Amino acid sequence: MDITDFRKHGHELIDWVADYLDGGVESMPVLPDMQPGDLRQKLPDQAPEQAEPMSRIIEDFHRLILPAVTHWNHPRFFAYFPANQSPPSILAELLTAALGVNGMVWQSCPASTELEEQVMDWLRQLIGLPASFKGVIQDTASTATLCALLCARERATKQAFNNQGASAIADDTALRIYCSTEAHSSVTKGAKIAGYGAKNVVTVDVDEAFAMKPGDLEARIKADKERGLLPTCLVATLGTTSSTAIDPLRPLADIAERHDLWMHVDAALAGSAGLLPELAWIFEGLERADSYVFNPHKWLLTNFDCSAYFTRHPQWLQETFAINPEYLKTQADQQVSNHRDWGIPLGRRFRALKLWFVLRAYGAEGLREMMRKHLALAQDFAAWVDADPNFERLAPTPLQTVCFRLHPKDEPDEQRLDELNALLEEKLNRSGLVFLTHTRLKEQYCLRMSIGQRSTEASHVSEAWALIQKLAQDLDY
Ligand SMILES: Cc1ncc(COP(=O)(O)O)c(C=O)c1O
Repeated sequence: MDITDFRKHGHELIDWVADYLDGGVESMPVLPDMQPGDLRQKLPDQAPEQAEPMSRIIEDFHRLILPAVTHWNHPRFFAYFPANQSPPSILAELLTAALGVNGMVWQSCPASTELEEQVMDWLRQLIGLPASFKGVIQDTASTATLCALLCARERATKQAFNNQGASAIADDTALRIYCSTEAHSSVTKGAKIAGYGAKNVVTVDVDEAFAMKPGDLEARIKADKERGLLPTCLVATLGTTSSTAIDPLRPLADIAERHDLWMHVDAALAGSAGLLPELAWIFEGLERADSYVFNPHKWLLTNFDCSAYFTRHPQWLQETFAINPEYLKTQADQQVSNHRDWGIPLGRRFRALKLWFVLRAYGAEGLREMMRKHLALAQDFAAWVDADPNFERLAPTPLQTVCFRLHPKDEPDEQRLDELNALLEEKLNRSGLVFLTHTRLKEQYCLRMSIGQRSTEASHVSEAWALIQKLAQDLDY
């Protein structure tokens, strides 16, 4: 591709992206109308031997790829969690791609390391963490939690596990991890990878609001100690995946300190709300965590992937991960942070650039304003559910996700209710007008309305509610 062609198609694609963001996406179905394998069968079996013109490749993007895309950018995307990216973030991603740097060590791109240190410190201040916390960007919350589990393991075994492997732990002395029954699956995944073993993840009971019960946590830790097991790490969640429940950090920190556990806090989605003074109650006690992660790629206008990881013990990251082969040594090593030692991969994308663009282009006030809009829309939606005798809410709504289900007045049969709600979900998603997903809370099939796209306005939420009511009526319960 020569540079004239690059310029031509670059302009063309930026125009397309602008139109897509400026309402174009809204005319597309949120969820593609397709069956598994539909796209694969339209694609050639082999890569081309001969170069193809970019115009044809772009044409195929529109013809083949777009119809198979789930539009996370759609203002009526209410599934999973938001991926609310933004124009400034997209522009920064373009520059990141153009620079193509690999920020593995300071020398390999000083801008990547130093901008990351600075924007992470901005973020630390915005969410009110003490200066003793140092930040680094990880790809995902799952990776960040894995890093925390690895650091906790090394601290508990005095680095013997890193050196000796699993034989560092006596057969009858398992390292134990505690999290609530509502914690994200990344904790168990991390436990498997980090050598704790899935069976050593102890799930602690939750209260009526789906938050971890401190009393049950302490009872389980004591029981484990009596059995000669080694309580090692507590993973608390702010904003659980199913219902955005808030684990109470202060009493949990008391317990973690009493029993010498590493306390990691996973606030994947909810952490962005740390910018909002009115939600400060959620984060009380966070300053006592050993490590903390949240995802600006979920609710802070920053493109996937960008996970903010903070720790009071950067030395444990380095003691766990640092390896210093000759080919990576530089003369600046004593004066700089080499982020390859702050996480798992060696190579690192220049992710700080998009965060810097976003923080500057919106300012903290702009970000707060967006989150406040989503929070208010969620409260409106929750009120509509509460006011309809055929629907009910299944969890409190502290943030932007409303957990609810269709519950016709005269229908007592739980199995029938599960079926009705699964059917309603399917009809909603097949309409192409909205996309929402489900979970189970106390065994009940529960629909989740997660409000958090940048372009979602009150009209999108009220249209969605009208559609939910209408399709529910059509079910003829
Ligand atoms: C509480 C919580 N933790 C972790 C994750 C995983 O996030 P990531 O995709 O960044 O690994 C999620 C995503 O749903 C989540 O809700």
